[in-house]
Amino acid sequence: MKYVIHGSGGGPECMSLTNGPIPSPGPGQILIEVASAGINRPDVLQRSGKYPPPADASPVLGLEVAGTVAALGEGVTEWKVGAGVTALVPGGGYAEYCVAPAGHALPIPAGMDFTMAAALPENWYTVWANLMLHGRLAAGERLLIHGGSSGIGLTAIQLAKYIGAESIVTVGNAEKAAFCREFGAAHAINYREADFAEEVKRITNGAGVDVVLDMVGAPYLQRNLAVLKRDGRLVFVAFLEGAKGEFDLSPVMMKRLTITGSTMRPRTLEEKTAIRDALLARIWPEMAKGTIRPHVFARFPLAEVTEAHRLMESSRHIGKIMLEVKP
Ligand SMILES: NC(=O)c1ccc[n+]([C@@H]2O[C@H](COP(=O)([O-])OP(=O)(O)OC[C@H]3O[C@@H](n4cnc5c(N)ncnc54)[C@H](OP(=O)(O)O)[C@@H]3O)[C@@H](O)[C@H]2O)c1
Repeated sequence: MKYVIHGSGGGPECMSLTNGPIPSPGPGQILIEVASAGINRPDVLQRSGKYPPPADASPVLGLEVAGTVAALGEGVTEWKVGAGVTALVPGGGYAEYCVAPAGHALPIPAGMDFTMAAALPENWYTVWANLMLHGRLAAGERLLIHGGSSGIGLTAIQLAKYIGAESIVTVGNAEKAAFCREFGAAHAINYREADFAEEVKRITNGAGVDVVLDMVGAPYLQRNLAVLKRDGRLVFVAFLEGAKGEFDLSPVMMKRLTITGSTMRPRTLEEKTAIRDALLARIWPEMAKGTIRPHVFARFPLAEVTEAHRLMESSRHIGKIMLEVKP
C-alpha cells in the first residue's frame, strides 16, 4: 500500500509517499481500506517531532479515517467486510489501509461522503470527552471557546447548541467571526482587535461564563480564570502558546473553579469505546437529521499532503482539511 512517511520529522516538506505492506488486523480490530483521512493539529506536532505516538500505535501520521471494512480481526462481530465506517485511530491514517479497534468505528452518517465522515471522529471524540465528561457543560450555561474556527472549535459550537448552551468564540479575523456566528455561536470576538476578557464581561453584563474550552494556554490563563463564574470549569485541549508561566491562582479558591483537560490518544480502549457509544446514541442521530454536520474547508489528494499541512499551519482555514486517499 501507499502511505506517508515523515522520516525524523521537520517542516511539511519532510513528508513523502512510500510503499509498504498492508497492516493486518489483530484481535478486536478491523482493517479499513481508506477513502479519506482527516488532518488534525496534533499531526503537525507529531510531524515536527513534538508529539511522539504511544508505543503501541502506528508511527504513521493520521488519527481518523473513513472507508470500507476490508478484513476482520479475531473476535470481531459488530462489523462486516464491505461496511462503510469512520473511525478514530491512534495512528496510521495517512495510508491506503489502516487498522482500527472495532469499538472505535462508527457508521457513515446518512447523506455524507467518506470525506465528510472522516472529518468527524477526532473532533467529536475530543469535544465530547472534554465538554461533557470533564467540563460538565449543561443546558442554559454559557461556554467560551478559544480557536472557534478550528475543527475542534466548530464542533464545540455544535455540541453547545445541541445541549442548549450558548457559545462565545474567539477568532483571529472577521471572516472567521462571521462564519462562527453563522455556524451557531451567539457571539464571536476577534482577539486581534479586542481583549477577549473585557468583551466577555461586556457581552454577559459582567456575569462571565460557566465553561472555557482553551487551546492557547499560559498567556490566556489569568484572563480565563477572570471570566469564569463561580463553580466554573476551565478545560484545556492544548497549549498552542505554552503551558508555563507565573499566575495568581486565587480565583480558583475564591470562585471554586475547576481546571481540567485531557488528550484523546492515551485513553484506554474501553474509555474510547464508551465515548463512541455516547456519540452513536446522542450525536449520530443528529447527523442523520442534518442538524449537525462537519465543515470541510479543503480536500487534497494523499500525494499533496505537504500542501495540506502548509495550509493548516497558515491558519487560513475554517474547519477541516482532508486527505482524499481514494477520491
Ligand atoms: N486534547 C486532545 O485530545 C486534542 C485532540 C485534537 C486536537 N487538539 C488540539 O485542539 C486544537 C485545535 O485542533 P484542530 O485540529 O481543530 O486545529 P486547527 O483547525 O488547525 O485550528 C487551530 C486554530 O486555532 C487558532 N489559534 C489560536 N492561537 C493559535 C496559535 N498560537 N497557533 C496556532 N493556531 C492558533 C487558529 O485560528 P485563529 O485565526 O482564530 O487564531 C487556528 O486556525 C489544537 O491545538 C490541537 O492540538 C487536542
